[in-house]
Amino acid sequence: MLELRQVTKKYDDKVIFEDISLKINRGEIVSILGPSGCGKTTLLHMILGLTNISGGRIAYNGEDITRVPMQERGFNIVFQDYALFPNLNVKQNIEYGLRNNPSVSTQQEVDELIDLLDIKAHLSKRVHQLSGGQKQRVALARTLVMKPKILLLDEPLSALDGVIKETVKARIREIAKRYQLTTLIVTHDPEEAMTLSDRILLLSDGKVAQFAQPAEIIHNP
Ligand SMILES: Nc1ncnc2c1ncn2[C@@H]1O[C@H](COP(=O)(O)OP(=O)(O)OP(=O)(O)O)[C@@H](O)[C@H]1O
Ligand SMILES: [Mg+2]
Repeated sequence: MLELRQVTKKYDDKVIFEDISLKINRGEIVSILGPSGCGKTTLLHMILGLTNISGGRIAYNGEDITRVPMQERGFNIVFQDYALFPNLNVKQNIEYGLRNNPSVSTQQEVDELIDLLDIKAHLSKRVHQLSGGQKQRVALARTLVMKPKILLLDEPLSALDGVIKETVKARIREIAKRYQLTTLIVTHDPEEAMTLSDRILLLSDGKVAQFAQPAEIIHNP
């Protein structure tokens, strides 16, 4: 279980979060909704360990990880801007993390992901030769092959549309449930949050406005 206890975040004097507390269960898929600039990306970065919190505690399975560095937390993220390696091709990008941990995913699992995310035709291309949606799928594959304990996704579907969006959504759910990956997904799209997640976290004015199952949010918004 991931737990935030009275977490506060400031950038200089600007308060982004004030005293927020949350518990997220193992294997749970949580969508994060809120207006632009409300702190969705910041929340993911605090959990990842990329950004320090200004007050409070973060715990994972009961252990305080507030001061545990990012590399030792074992979480992983797909960044909002993908952050792919421009000097590597698509295949090398996807398999990058496996170079030091080859046992995390079998070749068959990697190939399956490449198939399901429809990346096969692009494996030898460089990143600058890809469209936004293609980059997004490569970034997703690169993170999923590492089977992180917590999967953090910053708008992973924003550049996708139609059939491929539905496929990727279903795939994220399937992988999260199969490996009991705790998954936090930032989105702008309430419809996407409703269909993809077990619970929805609504942020507003540096506070948790609502944290509930989709059905509850429809009935008591
Ligand atoms: N490194 C930083 N230094 C100072 N202020 C920052 C920094 N990063 C983010 N902020 C500010 O913190 C606030 C929250 O930013 P954040 O990127 O988390 O918002 P967001 O909800 O992800 O927005 P969007 O939906 O546009 O991606 C914004 O006001 C932003 O300007
Ligand atoms: Mg953001």
